[in-house]
Amino acid sequence: MPRPTVEITHVQEFSAAHRLVSAHLSEQANRELYGPCFTDHGHNYEVEVTVRGTVDPKTGMVMDLNRLSKLVAERLIARVDHRHLNHDVPFLAGTITTAENVAVAFWDELEPALRKFPGCKLYRIRLHESRANKVEYYGPAKAASRSSSPSSSRSSARTRGAKA
Ligand code: NI
Repeated sequence: MPRPTVEITHVQEFSAAHRLVSAHLSEQANRELYGPCFTDHGHNYEVEVTVRGTVDPKTGMVMDLNRLSKLVAERLIARVDHRHLNHDVPFLAGTITTAENVAVAFWDELEPALRKFPGCKLYRIRLHESRANKVEYYGPAKAASRSSSPSSSRSSARTRGAKA
């Protein structure tokens, strides 16, 4: 019988400041596009890291969640928690610190560390910027294999008038 494939998800929170500003746009255009997000502000973020793999019959696990927790804490959270994402985080230097770009950068920071775990792979990074807004990234390989659908998605449960 083939081994079952299971997705396991680990969640951590962090708080960080940022502002949205594009070097491609004038100050006026930035203000119009990003509104209040053009100035410094902060979020209580939540990042969900999903690993997909087969259940090892020896351990009953896809991957040891304590080890995943440690990796997420060291590779991601320790480097962004209580920082300004635009100024204090080398792996975000030069990027527009939207949730989309932060999710992609998180993938790039975490995925290499997961390669040494046999039988499983990073499957998804989901980043909640607020209770209402979240983005998901499934990595560059999926983007190539699913030409008809984008590799990242953005969803908003925001209702008119609610705060971002
Ligand atoms: Ni923001």
